[in-house]
Amino acid sequence: TSVDKIKAAGFVTMSTNAEFEPFEFKDGDKIIGIDIDISNKIAEKLGVELKVNDIAFDALTTELGSGKTNFVAAGMTADEDRKKNVDFSDTYFDASQAIIVLKGSAIKSPADLNGKKVGVQQGTTGDTYCTNEDGKNEIKVGSTERYAKGVDAVADLINGKIDAVVIDDFPAKKFVEKNPDKIAKLEEALTTEQYAIAVPKGDKAMLDTVNSVLSELKSSGELDKIVEKYKEN
Ligand code: ARG
Repeated sequence: TSVDKIKAAGFVTMSTNAEFEPFEFKDGDKIIGIDIDISNKIAEKLGVELKVNDIAFDALTTELGSGKTNFVAAGMTADEDRKKNVDFSDTYFDASQAIIVLKGSAIKSPADLNGKKVGVQQGTTGDTYCTNEDGKNEIKVGSTERYAKGVDAVADLINGKIDAVVIDDFPAKKFVEKNPDKIAKLEEALTTEQYAIAVPKGDKAMLDTVNSVLSELKSSGELDKIVEKYKEN
C-alpha cells in the first residue's frame, strides 16, 4: 500500500499553497499553520518525516493525481467537483466565503456585489462562486480578477483596482487584522463550506490514516487547541 511505501521511504509528502494564513503561511522561510500542525501529526502517526511541497493552489489536485504527493492539506473545501478527482477525508473545519471591502464602502451585504469587480484567489471556491459559470447564482458579480495570492488581491483592493475581495473567512480576518484602518470584513458570508484533507483517488490506506489522526485530534481536544493557537497573532 501507499502507507507501506511511505514507511519504507521514511517520509511522507504533503502539498499545499502557503498563501493562506492561518492554515499555511510563511514565517521567514519556514511554512507554518494549522494544516502543518495537522500534517505533522499524520507524519508522526506513520513514524516518518514530513516533507512540505508549496505550489499554486490550482495545481494541487493535479499534483495528487501525479503520484508525487501523498496528501493535500490546504484549507481545501470538500466540494463535489473536486471529488471526481480526489478522495476527501472527514472534514475538520467549518468555513465560509467572506467579503472584504474598503472601510466606508457602499458594499454592505453580499447582494451589493452585483456588477462589481471582485478579486479572488485562482482556483478556489471563492473563484468558482464569483465566476458563476453556470449563471445560477443569485449574486452576479460584474467581473472577477484572479490572483495567485490572496495578499495581492487585498493590495489591489487597498489601491482601488477592485471593489471587493472574496476569500475564506479565517484568512479574511487575518488580512483585516493587518490593515484595520483600511479594510473590513462583512458580517454576512457568501457560502458555507467545510475543509478536508485530500488524498489520491482510491488511496484507502492513506485515507484511513488521515481519518484516524483527525478523529484522535478531535476527540482529544487537540484540534481545538491548534486552531486557538493561530487565532492570536
Ligand atoms: N477553501 C477554499 C477552496 O477550497 C480556498 C482554499 C485556499 N487554500 C490555500 N492554501 N491557498 O477553494
